[in-house]
Amino acid sequence: DAPETVSPTGAPTGAPKIANAQQGEFLTTSAGARLYDTDHSLKAGERGPTLLQDHHLREKVMHFDHERIPERVVHARGYGAHGVFVGYGTATNVCKSAFLGDGVETPVFVRFSTVLGSRGSADTVRDTRGFATKFYTQEGNFDLVGNNIPVFFIQDGIKFPDVIHAGKPHPDREIPQAQSAHDTFWDFVSTHTEATHHVMWNMSDRGIPRSYRTMEGFGVHTFRLVNAEGETALAKFHWKPKLGVHSLVWEEAQMINGIDPDFHRRDLADAIESGAYPQWELGLQLFPDTPKQTFEGIDLLDPTKIVPEELAPVQPVGMLTLNRNTTNFFAETEQVAFHLGNLVPGIDVTDDPLFQARLFSYLDTQLTRLAGPNFNQIPINRPHVPVNDMFRDGFHQHAVHGGVAPYRPNTLDGGNPFVAKAEDRPFVEVAQPLPRAVKVRQSPASFADHFTQPRLFWLSLTPVEKEHVVRAFTFELGKCYEQAIKERQLAVLANVDPTLCAEVAKGLGLPVPSTAARPRKVTPSPALSQIGQTWPTD
Ligand code: HEM
Repeated sequence: DAPETVSPTGAPTGAPKIANAQQGEFLTTSAGARLYDTDHSLKAGERGPTLLQDHHLREKVMHFDHERIPERVVHARGYGAHGVFVGYGTATNVCKSAFLGDGVETPVFVRFSTVLGSRGSADTVRDTRGFATKFYTQEGNFDLVGNNIPVFFIQDGIKFPDVIHAGKPHPDREIPQAQSAHDTFWDFVSTHTEATHHVMWNMSDRGIPRSYRTMEGFGVHTFRLVNAEGETALAKFHWKPKLGVHSLVWEEAQMINGIDPDFHRRDLADAIESGAYPQWELGLQLFPDTPKQTFEGIDLLDPTKIVPEELAPVQPVGMLTLNRNTTNFFAETEQVAFHLGNLVPGIDVTDDPLFQARLFSYLDTQLTRLAGPNFNQIPINRPHVPVNDMFRDGFHQHAVHGGVAPYRPNTLDGGNPFVAKAEDRPFVEVAQPLPRAVKVRQSPASFADHFTQPRLFWLSLTPVEKEHVVRAFTFELGKCYEQAIKERQLAVLANVDPTLCAEVAKGLGLPVPSTAARPRKVTPSPALSQIGQTWPTD
């Protein structure tokens, strides 16, 4: 149930609970005055004009007029459910977070989403899926805001507005609505080859999941874990669905979009209602926290790279079960506000430049989307532990803060009741070997390899899966009006695999580009040769 309405300071508000606004026997105004008629406005005579003095008419229409809030700027179309996470206790040697302890049960809320479509768009489009989890832990909320694809389009968050502008509907006609905006999307990804790896996953069956219940989830970035002794390790989070990973084929996806645009949300809600609770195991890939922050030659701060599970197995640390549907879509799924900065002791950020930009973006966008700075007081966002902050006032402030001295230490409000203890400090300061304080706008050299991993992904597919990828590239690129964009993307594919490039070129009726047209030279990652992948020499 939604937690009770309490003051964030713990002070009694004197106000009744408002979690359920349908209380009492009689219909009332929002101010609690009893109504005797909600169907007829007050008029000057039976056929006369409506009177401005009709407060109920004005209040009812005014409230309706303001029912909509802005949809999310990305991931607008989503669906949520409640559940529980149970820790296995297997991570305690690397992470001191209480919710990972053996048998510890933590309530959670999960929101799945598509990225590009608007709130009313269809579910089974080809797109990345969001997989965002809010853990209401004993140590405050931990938000794991991930996707169903383990890598991202860009290596630096400063390009996020650009990649999203390219993928959203074209600004002139707002077409296409729910799939990649073809010319702009392919224009962007063919000129930003760091996107190639993510695009390969999108064009594979992973881009059209059968169900939210059959999707993997990934934290994408590398996080830093801290144990009780203060030792650190680097880690990537993985969700593994107990039902396995399943996808639709493109023809199914197209038909379902027409027949039942709510297919994924219906599937999740029906499964939970019937007691077939979906489950995901949370796992960690662990890496030593070395100054270089690489593992087997793979840069752990580059969000366009995975670490193959053959090199770093995913180690199970707990189980998520979704067991309760929402009772009010707006109050729960729409008003939930995830943020990567919602961390608990034992889990910390790293210097991945995409991660760093996200730390700014979510709080900032929620200021507008949820109208002001008090969105953590909305029931779905409230932590399940006491809150004691010094934030005051602002739009939609529901807390009635006591005292006169919202600063610490103070000598007025009960002396000095709160001093942060050094051992409570949740995060570690890791000494980075910075040669000197320099400001740069460039990427490390290790970010320059854009093709080794897309090729690894391609080579991992079965013949049927490869055929699906070829067909997806052919279909999507076939929607571009600009021939030059198609040709440039073919040149990108030539860097991934010559067969893939040739097959797509055939489908598009275009010549296979010469290797001279390749946009960028690549450096193979040493780790990949260790697991049997070789890089073809030019
Ligand atoms: C929303 C994932 C990168 C900005 C979301 C949501 C997910 C997500 C799952 C939906 C949250 C919900 O259900 O409410 C990711 C992943 C990323 C990524 C996995 C890369 C690894 C970025 C970057 C930025 C960004 C780089 C900006 C610099 C946003 C914004 C929202 C959002 C503004 C809307 C949040 C809201 O209105 O509540 N993202 N995202 N994301 N993301 Fe990201």
